[in-house]
Amino acid sequence: MKNFYLMLAYFCVCTVFSCHAQSIIPGKEWKDTEGNPINAHGGGVLFHNGTYYWYGEYKGEHTYRSPGVDWDCYRTDAGGVSCYSSKDLYNWKFEGVVLEPDTVNPHSDIHPTMVIERPKVIYNDKTGKFVMWMHIDNYNYWKAAAGVAVSDSPTGKFTYLGSMHPNGQISRDMTLFKDDDGKAYHIYSSEGNATLYISLLTDDYLNHSGTYTRNFPDKFREAPAIFKRNGKYYMVTSGCSGWDPNEAEYAVAESVLGPWKAVDNPCRGKDADKTFYGQSTFVLPVAGKKDGYIMMFDKWNKTDLIDSRYIWLPIVFNGDIPTIPWMEAWSLEDMGLRLFGKK
Ligand code: GAL
Repeated sequence: MKNFYLMLAYFCVCTVFSCHAQSIIPGKEWKDTEGNPINAHGGGVLFHNGTYYWYGEYKGEHTYRSPGVDWDCYRTDAGGVSCYSSKDLYNWKFEGVVLEPDTVNPHSDIHPTMVIERPKVIYNDKTGKFVMWMHIDNYNYWKAAAGVAVSDSPTGKFTYLGSMHPNGQISRDMTLFKDDDGKAYHIYSSEGNATLYISLLTDDYLNHSGTYTRNFPDKFREAPAIFKRNGKYYMVTSGCSGWDPNEAEYAVAESVLGPWKAVDNPCRGKDADKTFYGQSTFVLPVAGKKDGYIMMFDKWNKTDLIDSRYIWLPIVFNGDIPTIPWMEAWSLEDMGLRLFGKK
């Protein structure tokens, strides 16, 4: 009974004054600073001038199956790409839909009838532009292209420039990786999702340079997420089973372009063989913190995609071996990660 009154008091206080989150609860509904569920799926995070920007798929309210498609093709209308900002990684302010869908031109890549997935944004120090790449598809996922957009500010609006089949091949699940030397790479599932391409972008990040490698041929890896630690590159991927979960795998390399060596499932604990019912999307390096890496997974709810949740977990290193142990709730302080190096 006492607990009930405590919870009631907490609820009342939180309703009247907006509550300040101080922990991350994987898989639980995560609300923004206005009290609305965060709608930024398949996303990635950019750290720029002391602020984190979380970009993701802005799912529509209504989930339906694409008509005439014989696989589990659940979708919502493409709502564009959203952005949330935060200084502490717990409390996120909605900055709006920073790449808006084109509701006027029915032939546009970003019309609501299309698919806009896995957007990622990096900053180009030379041009001063924020560059977004994303997976562009049509209702049955046959277009399989990579789209690019650009903005002068991290909170947009982004201008859509167009889509392409990079290096003459299809492109679906994807991420971006910007290395310490300023070179940036587009990593995408290609050749019918069978092979993962890693492609060096041009200096302005708006095109492919022509330098690329084919990785894990015929292994059907998706949902790539890359990070660098102590000069080594790590990549977490999922298998290929649509919205349904499967076992994750990590790989290591001495160079971003490879060769990559697949190692093991990094997940530990209950449901580790199903990636805790999640799928990788991004690894977020905690600014200024050595060994502070957060693994971001989506927990898809295929029949109500807007209610898909986020599973964020710290990556724990044993020497050079990354593991991702399940945790019900955690905070950066618990994990010994102190933001911006503060005590
Ligand atoms: C998954 C992919 C998701 C989405 C889904 C559609 O394999 O990782 O981003 O495209 O398929 O079924």
